[in-house]
Amino acid sequence: MEIFKTQKDLELYLDSLRLEGKKIALVPTMGGLHDGHVSLVDKAKSLSEIVVVSIFVNPTQFARGEDFDDYPNTFEADKLLLESKNVDALFLPSKEEIYPHGTTSDYKVGAIGQILCGAFRPTHFDGVAQVVKRFFEIVKPNLAVFGEKDFQQLLIIKTLVNNLSLDLKIESIPTQREDDGLAMSTRNQYLSDLERERAPHFYSVLCDARDSILRGNSFPEVKKDAIKTLGKSFEVEYLEVLDANNLTQIETKTTEIIIISAIRFGGTRLIDNLVFRRTNV
Ligand code: PAF
Repeated sequence: MEIFKTQKDLELYLDSLRLEGKKIALVPTMGGLHDGHVSLVDKAKSLSEIVVVSIFVNPTQFARGEDFDDYPNTFEADKLLLESKNVDALFLPSKEEIYPHGTTSDYKVGAIGQILCGAFRPTHFDGVAQVVKRFFEIVKPNLAVFGEKDFQQLLIIKTLVNNLSLDLKIESIPTQREDDGLAMSTRNQYLSDLERERAPHFYSVLCDARDSILRGNSFPEVKKDAIKTLGKSFEVEYLEVLDANNLTQIETKTTEIIIISAIRFGGTRLIDNLVFRRTNV
């Protein structure tokens, strides 16, 4: 695996591969890699000849008081893992390399970035869009792979590609889960042993809510019950039942539904979602 720290060196390496007609996939990460990231790499490998993984803890997507300074750094393990997956290139840029002209951004995500997670982290998605756009400029991938756990992020990135008419495909993988159902996340490392034992309850409440909808119960009723149940164990930031295509309110004809939620458990913020189809419309 080649390791690059500068845009110039990575571009030089990728330009020659592109000239040979090789298809390039990008997997952007912030490190702290787990099996969810491995699935992103596997998907990238299955769709392209060259896989570039980036590790960059992007300061612009963290607000003051969030976990930017404490974000798990497991670099040596990450490197070994990526090598074992035969990743072709690891991009490890500095902040100056990514933001040579400062961190002001010209791309604004708009209303979709202000709901759900964005209502609690108002500057987060502008920062995500900024860094992802920058990675697309540098790597010029044919495709990039993201996880469906960050469902709102995925929608925002697809919208960015559309809005800017970028010539690349966004691919995604379903949320990867631990055996007990907890969605894999770098931030799970923050949970104490006891919290880790109790955290899968988050997923089981989402599953119960889905089952309740499929049994024909009304969305407002299901939402109210799920928030009440979650509230007994966690601090609920939000839980919504929405149209999975665009995160808007469900209409009579909507068939693809998402139950999407964020909670706080001790000092840890967890997000999760479930997407499913209803057939009784
Ligand atoms: O999902 C993440 O890990 C980050 O938001 C991303 C896409 C790597 C941008 O920093």
